[in-house]
Amino acid sequence: MAITGCNRQSGNQSLSVKSPDGKVVVVFDNSDSKLSYSVRYDEKELIAKSAMGFNFKEMAPLDSHLTILNYDLSKVDQTWEQPWGEEKVVRDHHQRLLIELQESREPKRKLKIEFKVFNDGVGFRYILPQQNGIDSIKIMDELTEFSFVDNHKAWCILAYNKQKYELLYNKNTINKLDSVHTPLTIETTNGLYISIHEAALVDYASMTLYGNRTNTLKCDLVPWKDQIKVKARGSFKTPWRSIQIAEKPGDLIESNLILNLNEPNKLGDVSWVKPMKYVGIWWGIHIDNWSFHQGPKLGATTENTIKHIDFAAKHGFDEVLVEGWNEGFEAQWYSDFGPNQDFTKPNPRFDLFKVQNYAKSKGVTIQAYNETCANPDNYLSQIDTAYTLYESLGYSSVKVGQVNSKFKNGEWHHGQYGVNYYQTVVEKGAEHHLSINFHEPIKPTGLRRTYPNLVSREGARGQEYNAWGQYRKSGHNPPEHLTILPFTRLLGGPMDFTPGIFRVDIPQSPDNYVNTTISKQLAIYVIIYSPIQMAADLIENYEGHPAFQFIKDVPVNWETTKVIDAKIGDYIITARKDSDSDDWYLGAIADEEKRDFNISLDFLGDGKYEAQIYSDSEKTDLKTAPMEYQIIKKEVTAADHLDLKLANSGGAAIRFKKIN
Ligand code: NOJ
Repeated sequence: MAITGCNRQSGNQSLSVKSPDGKVVVVFDNSDSKLSYSVRYDEKELIAKSAMGFNFKEMAPLDSHLTILNYDLSKVDQTWEQPWGEEKVVRDHHQRLLIELQESREPKRKLKIEFKVFNDGVGFRYILPQQNGIDSIKIMDELTEFSFVDNHKAWCILAYNKQKYELLYNKNTINKLDSVHTPLTIETTNGLYISIHEAALVDYASMTLYGNRTNTLKCDLVPWKDQIKVKARGSFKTPWRSIQIAEKPGDLIESNLILNLNEPNKLGDVSWVKPMKYVGIWWGIHIDNWSFHQGPKLGATTENTIKHIDFAAKHGFDEVLVEGWNEGFEAQWYSDFGPNQDFTKPNPRFDLFKVQNYAKSKGVTIQAYNETCANPDNYLSQIDTAYTLYESLGYSSVKVGQVNSKFKNGEWHHGQYGVNYYQTVVEKGAEHHLSINFHEPIKPTGLRRTYPNLVSREGARGQEYNAWGQYRKSGHNPPEHLTILPFTRLLGGPMDFTPGIFRVDIPQSPDNYVNTTISKQLAIYVIIYSPIQMAADLIENYEGHPAFQFIKDVPVNWETTKVIDAKIGDYIITARKDSDSDDWYLGAIADEEKRDFNISLDFLGDGKYEAQIYSDSEKTDLKTAPMEYQIIKKEVTAADHLDLKLANSGGAAIRFKKIN
């Protein structure tokens, strides 16, 4: 066998594998009888010898005295197509090293470790194959470490938190990290950007990381209530532990490493999964115009839904989300895990069939809303009947919420129990041709490749926090939040952020406001990727607004994506090419500072484009005039440069319409 980029050294105890371009080198080593790996980038050590292995409840640890029985090195260079995404055709180019190990002493257990080394990083996973004598496994600790060579800084959110994933990011040194979620984005002291995450999280606990007062991040699996981390029968496969490596922050966003580490589409023909834009009965509830629960302010009435269907049909939106349509939304619906939620019975003022017939006549679908209140037993006992009903009605997607910090049975969302629960919902959705939009989800790990009906999720502080602001004491999202999200949570996958608030002040509750300009709201449609995007404002706030045209035009499915310029926490400028036309779109957003840019348009194709520029004007100011904007049109080519002036927490959104 030709050994390209893989060396056996010192009596079978060390193997190395390189990325196709040779810049990333992983060394697997068990020469001192302990399993370890290390990573070099561009000839410099990035991750020093780091521990690997497991502690179990009823078996001896599996991290030492293993010898290499066999290994296999192969080179992969292939492309695959996404049914929807930020990039239509994805290149999967890596070197793979599969190592088979066996304990040199009793009980002589076998373990496989698989590495995939790409130009943009590394993935590795453990596979414990079925073997004699093992029929029940209880993992108490996965010993995986990431031993950085310096005390770098990372943007992090705490795990095990009441607010689940919905936190603001802090920048802290590795040694101070206390069980934080992944994706964990690190800026190294020598200017590299690293994201530690996991891919293909299935039937296993989520990995969080803690700093242990050193430069070494340790894997901390989210436990079951009984403190066991993972339960399995006679074998298990871990998710891929991923290390994305980039020289510029934008390269982390352009990387497809997480998707490449996931299995191909298992659902076959997914033409029923529809990337789409929607409006709905939602923001009005969060700003207290309407209520979820029955009473004089109920939002989910037949009449209100029909108004939204008319608006959607008139303006080319595909779907209408209706929160609070079903029985179970009482005033305190979220307390006691919503015992009365019934997912097939409409509230008395919502005529399910009348609404559906009207929607159908207008070519619009309804997005079913299921607030499970984090009570999986109640939800799963109804899911077959409910999804059969939704399918028969012609629905194409369901928004599934899980409010409450833990599930009713006391398990964490991110533990193995939760991972399996969310997976069941996705598979049930697929059986009924329904796309799933999770709120209060677990983090995304690229499973959308395998299950393309897993279209989007929340899993970060979204727009709703701007509605609540001071009033719910949680505070608005600060302007820099949106300039951090693309480099952290969004590296895992799409987010249903629900952008497009034009009335950025909230007249009935003056303490609350959206904390951006209107142009920044527009730019979010390009910056935050999701195949389903909401125009989240009250529909009347769009009427007569010329900027609404951008939301109508902007696609949700792209052929390619380029990050033009970015500084994490300060600004980001992203350009994407529409998958169905020659048009390009650009979004630029700023933190609390005013920012000026002069950008090259060299990403455009040949020929001329009309640049339709929606941007902050000279008058726009976050505090005094956030709703001011201007629309300028000019002819441009790839040879041009464009000046962009962003207000404080401002933005710019541009459609480059191909003209010849
Ligand atoms: C939180 C979700 O993010 C939001 O979209 C939903 O309206 C509420 N929960 C109520 O379920």
